[in-house]
Amino acid sequence: MSASIIARAVAVLEGNWNRTHTLPATGLYPHQWSWDSAFIAMGLRHISARRAGQELDALLAGQWDDGRIPQIIFDPHRDADYSPGATFWRSSTIPGSPGEVETAGLIQPPNQAWAVWAVHASDPEESVRRNFLARAYPRLLAWHEYLRTRRDRRGSGLACIVHPWESGTDNSPLWDEALSRVSDQPKHRFERPDLLHTNSSERPSDREYGRYFWLAERYRDHDCDDVDSGYPFLIEDPLFNTLYAVSELALARIAQALGKDPQPHERRSREITDALGQLFSSRLGCLGAWDVVQDTLVDKATINGVLPLLLPTISHASELVATLEGPRFLGGGTLLPPSYDATAADLEPELYWRGPAWFNMAWLSIIALDTHGRAAEAARVSANLVRLAEENDFPEYVNPWTGSPHGTRRFSWTAALTLDTLKHKDRKLLG
Ligand code: SER
Repeated sequence: MSASIIARAVAVLEGNWNRTHTLPATGLYPHQWSWDSAFIAMGLRHISARRAGQELDALLAGQWDDGRIPQIIFDPHRDADYSPGATFWRSSTIPGSPGEVETAGLIQPPNQAWAVWAVHASDPEESVRRNFLARAYPRLLAWHEYLRTRRDRRGSGLACIVHPWESGTDNSPLWDEALSRVSDQPKHRFERPDLLHTNSSERPSDREYGRYFWLAERYRDHDCDDVDSGYPFLIEDPLFNTLYAVSELALARIAQALGKDPQPHERRSREITDALGQLFSSRLGCLGAWDVVQDTLVDKATINGVLPLLLPTISHASELVATLEGPRFLGGGTLLPPSYDATAADLEPELYWRGPAWFNMAWLSIIALDTHGRAAEAARVSANLVRLAEENDFPEYVNPWTGSPHGTRRFSWTAALTLDTLKHKDRKLLG
């Protein structure tokens, strides 16, 4: 293990720490993001389990009365630096939002229970001293209950996203068709402060942003209540639901540690895992997304559709391993798995979620490969992850073939997941 890379990764996380939480990046992303915080906690726990716990406590403090954990908790001092910010969402005027903090109304993928369990397991004594699990468990239960009751919009057992931002993979080609039915003319003019920090060729276009804002306005103006009939964007994302099933397994561990019954969570995880089978495309050898408005499968190969391999009992596992190791992802001369099918004519290797390799997806791929007995390929991806992070000052994403860095630098989850990768050899889910 190289001491210098550890020190540099720690310095990134120290530099991005803001009182109670870690900013994903000080310029481009100046608030607290939900799934970022969970990934960050996975690395932060190796430096300080106490601080990793504080990170997650700060996130859970943004929970709404209906159980949702918001996509972003805003720092009121940085409202001009990111759009849409607190002024756009005006969450405190929406019934059921938390009084103490301003948040987005949307959510992000449910990896938080997984992170809570990982932080606890890294230092159980510290966790018990802080009563960490006992405080987090009821909030996580309410969060998963929100997903089960409010977001299962076709009764499939899977939760829907209502906006591309909720997937975390904002401009993935998976959302193109559904977004094409959305107006690109929001009511209010929007700013693009993101373009002050990155090249516009590496970010979603203004047209995509118009659609993102139009959808966010509609969701906000309906008080974020999830009962807006005719809402045009309802999608079951395979990665969102995979993390949901993993987090139910984590809730089972948490319940057991608290002397409660783990079985309802194990059962729920199995139900979500089985329901994911509905999204399998035999043409692609991986899962697509389900467009609930059109009632059709979006049949495109993305990293979202191979990562259900995180689940030990996912159906079609051998096809999924073959796809992850094949020409669409790791078999096409790539260093890390691209976010989109390497064989697709419209892949763009340096444009956000339309081709680049992201470090969180590489980290999830390592665990998926180890879970299914592919240790050699997992070790290759691990070595590339660490090398590309170190050589490029912890970039947001890289070109999957050349490893050239793109997006912002000193990106928190890249540093955190590098630390976690250095720490583990043979990864096991929830290990
Ligand atoms: N990823 C989004 C952005 O780029 C927010 O979730 O701003």
